[in-house]
Amino acid sequence: MQPVHDFEQRVREAIANPRNLGELKDADAVGSAGSAGCGDLMRLWLKFKEDRGRRVIDQASFQSFGCETAIAVASLATELLKGRTAEEARALQGGDLAAGLGPLPPMKIHCGELVEAALRDALEAGSTAPAEPAAAAAPSAPTLSDSLHQAGRATSGRKIVLLP
Ligand code: FES
Repeated sequence: MQPVHDFEQRVREAIANPRNLGELKDADAVGSAGSAGCGDLMRLWLKFKEDRGRRVIDQASFQSFGCETAIAVASLATELLKGRTAEEARALQGGDLAAGLGPLPPMKIHCGELVEAALRDALEAGSTAPAEPAAAAAPSAPTLSDSLHQAGRATSGRKIVLLP
């Protein structure tokens, strides 16, 4: 098992320059997930393209109201997903999405699962309407910040809100 400080260093590096942050305006699918245990939220957008007869993920992006680990995993995941079919993406689990950070400590496994859940939600949305851009529905979809304010929830000092 890697030393904890290695993991923390990798998380710090990932969140110092998060990749693919923010809403993907012309996405084909959007998925959301929340953790009942910690209250963190994740939203993931996917855009597909045709590549040599395969429908593959061209771009992925995310918004998060969550912990540093969830943000780091989402950042890595949005890069990892590029070029994969929906079927290939569906086969990925939280640990796969977080592989760039090394094994997640037990207390952080659910952070990877949060990203996985948002991905699965997006893939479900994309598979029900593959030719219909999610952008048509996305503008009316609340942002994570909207969702939190509607729920009347307060933020804690531990949480990080990443919105472009
Ligand atoms: Fe809950 Fe990381 S997603 S603490």
